[in-house]
Amino acid sequence: MLYGVSLGPGDVELLTLKALRTIEEADEVIAPGKLAADVVEKIRKPRIVEFPMGRSEEVIENLSRELAERCVEEDIAFVALGDVMFYSTFMHVARRVKELGGKVECVPGVPSFTCAFSVSQIFCDRPLGVVTAKDLKNINSDFEYLAVLKATKPKEVARLAEEWGYAVEAVVRRMFMEGEEVFVNRNNGKIPEFEDYFTVVILRKRD
Ligand SMILES: C[S@@+](CC[C@H](N)C(=O)[O-])C[C@H]1O[C@@H](n2cnc3c(N)ncnc32)[C@H](O)[C@@H]1O
Repeated sequence: MLYGVSLGPGDVELLTLKALRTIEEADEVIAPGKLAADVVEKIRKPRIVEFPMGRSEEVIENLSRELAERCVEEDIAFVALGDVMFYSTFMHVARRVKELGGKVECVPGVPSFTCAFSVSQIFCDRPLGVVTAKDLKNINSDFEYLAVLKATKPKEVARLAEEWGYAVEAVVRRMFMEGEEVFVNRNNGKIPEFEDYFTVVILRKRD
C-alpha cells in the first residue's frame, strides 16, 4: 500500500496517532524536501526525494513507477506538511500510482490554513475560502475569509487583496519551525516585508 501521510504544519505533537503509527510501521518513509524531513526525522529517518522546478514531472513519473511496483508487497509512507490532500506533491504521485494499478490510502492531518487561525487566535464562523497567492490575480469571491497559501510576498498579497475588497488579518510564517513569525493586524499595522514561501496570510472582506 502507498500511504499519503499528513504531518501537520511542523509540530510533531500535531501528528495524529494514525500518522505516527503509519510512519513507524512502513517499510520506507519518503519526504518531499527538507522541511517535511525535519518533522518526520523526530520519528525516523526518511528518504528525501526532491522535486526541482523544471524536472518535477520526470521525478514524479520515475517515483510513481517505482512505488506502483513496490506497494504491492510493501507499505510505503509518503509524508507531506499540513494535510496531504491540499496542494501537496503527493497528489501527483498518488494519481499516477493509481493509474498504474497501485493502491493508495490517505491519512488526514492538520492543514496549515486552519493552524494559521489557531496561532493568530482568529475565530472563524463565516464562509472561508482557501486559495493561493496566484489566485488573487483574479478573485471575485463572496467568502468573508480567505486563507492564502504560498503567500511568499505578504506585502504583494495585501496589495492584490485590497483590489478585491479584502484586508490582511494575519500573516504567519514557518509555524512551529525555526524562524516562526505571527503577525496579527490589529490596527492597520505594517504588513511584514519578508519573503518566505512557508507563509499563510488570512484575509477578511472589508465592510
Ligand atoms: C505545497 S503547499 C502545502 C499545503 C499543505 N498540504 C497544507 O495542508 O497546509 C505549501 C504551503 O503550505 C503553507 N504551509 C505549510 N506549512 C506551513 C508552516 N509550517 N507555516 C506556514 N505556512 C505553511 C505555506 O503557505 C506553503 O506555501
